[in-house]
Amino acid sequence: MELVFATNNAHKLNEVRAIAGTRFSIISLKELGCFDEIPETGDTLMENALQKAQFVHNKFHCNCFADDTGLEIEALNGRPGVYSARYAGEHCSFQDNMKKVLLEMNGATNRKACFKTVIALILDGKNYFFEGKIGGEIMEEEKGTSGFGYDPVFKPLGYDKTFAEMTEAEKNNISHRALATKELNDFLQTCNILK
Ligand code: IMP
Repeated sequence: MELVFATNNAHKLNEVRAIAGTRFSIISLKELGCFDEIPETGDTLMENALQKAQFVHNKFHCNCFADDTGLEIEALNGRPGVYSARYAGEHCSFQDNMKKVLLEMNGATNRKACFKTVIALILDGKNYFFEGKIGGEIMEEEKGTSGFGYDPVFKPLGYDKTFAEMTEAEKNNISHRALATKELNDFLQTCNILK
């Protein structure tokens, strides 16, 4: 069973490939020959995930999925949320986004946050959605160098280190994306698509 993963983010591709293991085979956009910048203009994670999957499905008519992730911080009324990628502005870096979050969280006592991932799957022309969520808290400074995005400032509940201080395997065992990917995998199993 082959599914195209509609992402240009190499970190995500590696994470999801590691989580899916040999259960289904993931084709990257590069392998498919898709070099477009995929639009992401929705107001919700679900809309964005579907928009990305539909872009690839419309162009290549293949079974595919896409994910969209947001970091929701209680003290910031759920921001950056669906705007996590460009929180500090167009063409900003992961570092710029983290700096903005740390500045806005300066002095905040409620540091609760969660990562949410929505996966949209288009299989034989039908849409399906899967979700994963993990609670945690925002650190007062960056810690660790692994992973990507907001990993250095997010410490999952029940752990004493940030995602960026964990090994890939540790993060992939508990992360929002891992939970959503496991749901996707379970769905594919129940469809008897996978052997
Ligand atoms: P996307 O729109 O799904 O690519 O994700 C939006 C933004 O959320 C990304 O640009 C990253 O900054 C952040 N993000 C997504 N997944 C993760 C993660 O697993 N760890 C940390 N940050 C993430």
